[in-house]
Formats: sequence, C-alpha cells, structure tokens
Amino acid sequence: MTKRIRKAVFPVAGLGTRFLPATKAIPKEMLTIVDRPVVQHVVDEARAAGIEHFVFVTGRNKAVIEDHFDMAYELDDTLGRRGKLKELEALKADLPAAGATSFTRQQAPLGLGHAVWCARDIIGDEPFALLLPDMLHHTFGKGCLAEMIDAFEKHGGNHIAVAPVPEDQTHQYGIVGVEDVKAKVSRITKMVEKPARGTAPSNLHITGRYILQPTIFNLLANQETGAGGEIQLTDSMIALSHQERFHAVRFDGDIYDTGSKIGFLTANLAYGLSRGDLGPQLRAEVERLLER
Ligand code: G1P
Repeated sequence: MTKRIRKAVFPVAGLGTRFLPATKAIPKEMLTIVDRPVVQHVVDEARAAGIEHFVFVTGRNKAVIEDHFDMAYELDDTLGRRGKLKELEALKADLPAAGATSFTRQQAPLGLGHAVWCARDIIGDEPFALLLPDMLHHTFGKGCLAEMIDAFEKHGGNHIAVAPVPEDQTHQYGIVGVEDVKAKVSRITKMVEKPARGTAPSNLHITGRYILQPTIFNLLANQETGAGGEIQLTDSMIALSHQERFHAVRFDGDIYDTGSKIGFLTANLAYGLSRGDLGPQLRAEVERLLER
C-alpha cells in the first residue's frame, strides 16, 4: 500500500533580488496576489489536496511568514469587539491547526536541493509534497497538487508536475522527457536541469510541484553542486530515477511565475478577474486603460 501524503515542504528562503526594492524588508512570498500573500495561495492549494502538516524552509528576515501562519490574538480580539465577524471568520478558516506548521532555516543559499534537504528530520521516513511558492498554479478545476496525489495513489513512486513551455524558454527550467507526451500521467524517461539551448528532451518543464519519496534525502546529503553552482534538486531526482519510478503529471491550468514582474502582475489580473466580488469592476478598469 502507498503511504498517504501528509506533509508538504515550502522552500521560502530565497532573497527575492528580482523584486528589489519591494523585497528589501518584506519576503517575496508575502507580496500579495489580490489580498492574499503568494505563499498563502500555495498553502491553500496544499490544504485543498489534504495536506496536514506544512513545513517552511525559511531564512533570515523571513520571520513574518511564521507570524502570518500564527494566530494574531490582538487582531482577532479587536475584530470581535468591532463586530467584524466576517473578517474574523475568514482569518480563523485560514489558520492552520495548532502544531500543523514547522519552520526550519536554510542557513546559506546553497540551492533548492539543499533547501529541501534541510526539511529531512521534519519529514522523516514518508513520501511528501514539495511546492515552490513562486509558481502559482491557477485552475478552475481540481488543484495541481490534488491531481498529483490522485496519480500518486494510483501509481506510487515519485511525481513531478509538468506543462509545455515555448522552445526558446526550455533553458530556464528543469525539463523532462516522457513516454507519452499527450497522456495526463506518463513515465519520465529523462530529466535535465536548465538544458543548453537546442538540447532539451521535450518542451515539458518542471512547474514546481513534486511528490517525492524520502530516499531523496540520502541522495541530497551527498549531492555535488550542479547548474549555476547550486545543489540542484533535479540532479538528486535523476539519481533517484535509476532506483525508483518517476511520473510526470501534466497540469492543464495557468502557471504564473510570481518571482518575475510580468508573472506577478499577470497573476494579480488573472486572480482578480476570476473573483466574483472584484472581477466585473476590474475588467471594466482594464478595458478603460487599454482604450487609452
Ligand atoms: C527550479 C527547479 C526547476 C524548475 C523551476 C520551476 O528552478 O530547479 O527544475 O523548473 O524551479 O520554477 P529555479 O526557478 O529555482 O531556478
């Protein structure tokens, strides 16, 4: 029987240099998409998929993320006394259960593989989900991680969400080759981190959602630095793929890289336009601007 996926890791230690000066004092994960921080959207996706424990790999100047996922006693009290019960209920609904969050620090920015390895003791000996908070997966259907957990329950092993990118962008991502390019779930035959232009095995990029077996931690422990001089998760996944099955789960919704300015602005529009309370008015404002 496959073990249930109970825990998810969120690497949130990155400096956010692409977003300076906004990220000088505020972690990039706390920038808002409409009225929710980026990291909250990703935690929402994990909760909707049934995740019970949320593991944040943080760094210096990220303490506000811990506060965000804690109860704000004075705020709750003030909202209650002022009769702002809707806001109070919404905050309570977002609050993770007591003991359902863990925070550990990546002491130096040595790469994504190293950040994941920092969570090893908290994860222990069970398969886990990994969600890169920069990458928002927007869909009107089932969330990306929920789809992956369905695939995991059927096939076991390791799973990576993938989606097509234009050929001229493959060098910016991890790219996989698969047995059946059109299938929703397919066996991965090849993986490469940021392939040189013209050498990618396909146009399917790793979108930032993973289900991994805990055996990855032993490989990460001995991992040499790879592309960009960093300890790359993809290199350990390649090593693990020689021992265990890896499946690609195709995500059909929209993906926004909120670590880039265009991705961040577009995500705000897309999430705003899809909101019942804001969508129609925002649409009218955008149309007005476009007519100028
Ligand atoms: C990381 C992964 C890469 C993946 C990407 C998705 O790269 O190493 O495989 O495609 O996230 O955003 P990074 O963006 O940290 O360079």
